[in-house]
Amino acid sequence: DICQRHRKGRRPMTGMTLWKDVTLLTMRDTDDAPYGMIADGAIVADGGHIVWLGQAQDIPENYEDAHAISCGGKFMTPGLIDCHTHLVYGGNRVAEFEQRLLGASYEEIARAGGGILSTVRATRVASAEELLASARRRLGQLQRGGVTTVEIKSGYGLDVDNELKMLRVARIMGGQDDIDVRTTFLGAHATPAEFTGDREGYMDLVCGAMLDAVADENLADAVDAFCENIAFSPEQVGRLFDRARELGLPVKLHAEQLSNSGGAALAARYKALSADHLECLDEAGVRAMAAAGTVAVLLPGAFYTLRDERVPPVDLLRKYNVPMAIATDSNPGSSPVLSLSLMINMASTLFRLSPEEALLGVTRHGARALGLADRGQLEVGLKADFALWDIAHPAELSYQVGGNLCIGVVKDGVTVAV
Ligand code: NIG
Ligand code: FE
Repeated sequence: DICQRHRKGRRPMTGMTLWKDVTLLTMRDTDDAPYGMIADGAIVADGGHIVWLGQAQDIPENYEDAHAISCGGKFMTPGLIDCHTHLVYGGNRVAEFEQRLLGASYEEIARAGGGILSTVRATRVASAEELLASARRRLGQLQRGGVTTVEIKSGYGLDVDNELKMLRVARIMGGQDDIDVRTTFLGAHATPAEFTGDREGYMDLVCGAMLDAVADENLADAVDAFCENIAFSPEQVGRLFDRARELGLPVKLHAEQLSNSGGAALAARYKALSADHLECLDEAGVRAMAAAGTVAVLLPGAFYTLRDERVPPVDLLRKYNVPMAIATDSNPGSSPVLSLSLMINMASTLFRLSPEEALLGVTRHGARALGLADRGQLEVGLKADFALWDIAHPAELSYQVGGNLCIGVVKDGVTVAV
C-alpha cells in the first residue's frame, strides 16, 4: 500500500529561529497599516509557531540565543494558501486547448463527451503511483512560488474506487511533502459515461456509497459540487449538502461560473466555507453570502483560459464586505496554472483588485475559505509558515507578470524551499 511507504519527509524542528532584516507584511485583521506592514521587522518561531514579531529594535532579550537568519532587507508574507485546485489528475487536455483555439467552446467540448470526462478516462487508467508522481511535480511548482497550504479536490474518478484513489494520493502528499494539503470530495463534478442520461442515479451513488466510503476513511475535509446547467442542479446539490451536514463535513461550491443558477445562495443556506468562480453572481447571491460569512473564491486563471467576458461582481462583493480569496483552480481543462503569484497579478489586472486585496486573497482570506484559523496572517500563536520575496514594495507582487519572486519558503518554522 503506497500510503505505508510514504512518510513525512519534514526535518525535525530544532530550537528557536529568528528572522531579521525583513519587512513583514502581516496581513493581520487587527492592523490599520496597509498590509499590516512592519518595516525593520523581526519574527521568532518556536515549535512550528510564531512566538514573537515586531520591530527589530524591540526584540526581547530572551530571544537573543535564537538561531538568527538575515533576510537581507527583503519582504516576508504569510505562506501563501491556494484554496482551490484540482491538482491530482491523469493526462492533460492540450488537444482540447488546440480545439478551442480553432473555435470550439469549453461547453461544446464538454457536451461532446470531452472536457472533464476526458480527464476522467485518463485518471481512471492511471495508477495511484502515476497520479502521485505527476501531482507532486505540480505541487513542487506551487511550493517554490511560496505556497505552504493547498486544497486538492477529487472529481476525476467519479466512481467509488477512483474517487478514493485520488483522495488517498492527495492525503499522501499532505503527509509526506513539506506542505499542508486539505482535501475536498468533488464526486459531483460531472456525470460519468456509465450514467449518461441518469444524473439522478449518479447522485444517488455520490450521496450514498461514495460519500460513505470517503467519510469512513476520513479522506475529505470538505464536500464540493459543480452547480451548473452542464453539471448539477441546485436541488441535486442540496441533497448532497444535506448528507454532508449529517456527516459533519463543511461544504463549498463551484457556482455561477457559466450561468446564474442560484448556486451561491444555495451554498450560503448551508453556511458554505466558500462559493467559487462567481462570474455570473448577482446581488441577491452576494447578500446571501455576506449574511452567511461565505468567502468568494475568485479564479482568474479559469477566466483567462476560457476567455470569459464577464468579470465577477467585485464592487458588490466589496460593498457587502464579502471576503475575496484568490486561487489557481489548477486543473487540466479550464486552468492549467502552476503559479499563485500569476493569479495575484491577474486578480489585479483582470478583476481590478487592489494589490492589498489580491494579497489578502492568497493569505488571510484563502485560509478562511478552507476554515483554517491557524494561518494566513503573521501573528503570535499562528503557524510559522512564511514566504520571502525579492521585492522593494508590496505592490510588486501584483505588478510582476510571470517569473518567480519567491526566494524562500518556511513551513512550520523550517526552511523547505529557496
Ligand atoms: O473549476 N468548473 C468545473 N471544474 C473545473 C474545471 C475542470 C476541468 O475542466 O477539468 C473548474 O474550472
Ligand atoms: Fe475548480
